[in-house]
Amino acid sequence: MGFYVPDNVVTNDDLSKMMDTDDQWIQERTGIKERRWVNPAIDSTSGMGVKAARMALERANMKATDIDFIVFATLSPDYYFPGPGVLVQKELGLDTIGALDVRNQCSGFVYGLSVADQFIKTGMYNNVLVIGSELHSGGLDKTTRGRSVSVIFGDGAGAAVLTATDDTSGILSTHLHSEGAHAEELALIGPATNRWVNEIIEENDENDESYFPYMNGSYVFKHAVTRFPQVINEALDANGYQPSDIDLLIPHQANLRISQFIQKTMRLRDDQVFNNIMKYGNTTAASIPIALTEAVEEGKVKPGDLICLAAFGSGFTWASALIRW
Ligand code: COA
Repeated sequence: MGFYVPDNVVTNDDLSKMMDTDDQWIQERTGIKERRWVNPAIDSTSGMGVKAARMALERANMKATDIDFIVFATLSPDYYFPGPGVLVQKELGLDTIGALDVRNQCSGFVYGLSVADQFIKTGMYNNVLVIGSELHSGGLDKTTRGRSVSVIFGDGAGAAVLTATDDTSGILSTHLHSEGAHAEELALIGPATNRWVNEIIEENDENDESYFPYMNGSYVFKHAVTRFPQVINEALDANGYQPSDIDLLIPHQANLRISQFIQKTMRLRDDQVFNNIMKYGNTTAASIPIALTEAVEEGKVKPGDLICLAAFGSGFTWASALIRW
């Protein structure tokens, strides 16, 4: 595992200088104290992914050239097309291996893991690099109009190197879901083919919010606190485990209140749930690999532990992975 976050720390007090918000509101509703925003001259979505990947490779004692396939999850790609997977292939100096881009927002990393897991289990690839990276800060509405969204999201990247093994450790199962009926409740509508950039320029409407992320916060919250426990229980049931068997649950860092809700619903102890949203905000596809890397660094993930990853977000999509570390 590896991760990278930009050095630039943006506190809640910093935000209150840009928009009508305050530290107390943000901490009470989300648990977030600070987040990182890139310096665009230094960092990009693919570039942060590469930095996280280099750390993961070093810790796995592997060379970049050992990688057989790249999976890159993001909702904030460098370009409209191509996706950032190919930029990682170029930057790491890899041969012409395949690079797949995953578009599942907050669930992107778990979706990506599931792809890597299947490729390894079928024997097609031995070593797969999975990256989740997000650069939100450049696209947020940093005025009071966008405050309910912009205070939540942060920049960063996390990466995992998955490798084939003969022992009983590894990904036990993954569980993927979607419900497109709610697609527009957490979305960025334009520019895209539904709202071309020339249409936006022609209209030249300074009140047009279609190119900022939109989130129906309370609606998302209600669905999240239902879907998270469901998909965690699905993973446990599939493998014959109980919530008490989980050594560490790493939920997607959407909102500390959501994590606390899941913990209470599932009757988990404090030491069974890992949260770091306080430091980084919601980094979407990057949040789980960043949190998992920090949990490993803090000695909270030990060989033999039962680790559960779970995510919910835009789509709506939600997913879980159960791992014997
Ligand atoms: N600072 C201060 N006030 C703010 C604010 C901010 N950053 N953002 C919104 N407000 C105000 C609103 O304008 C509203 O004021 P009003 O009552 O005068 O109209 C009030 O706070 C309550 O807004 P509301 O949106 O109802 O707050 P909420 O309790 O639903 O909390 C979220 C908002 C976004 C924190 C909450 O809905 C949430 O966490 N949702 C899930 C978000 C999430 O996890 N997204 C990622 C999913 S992957």
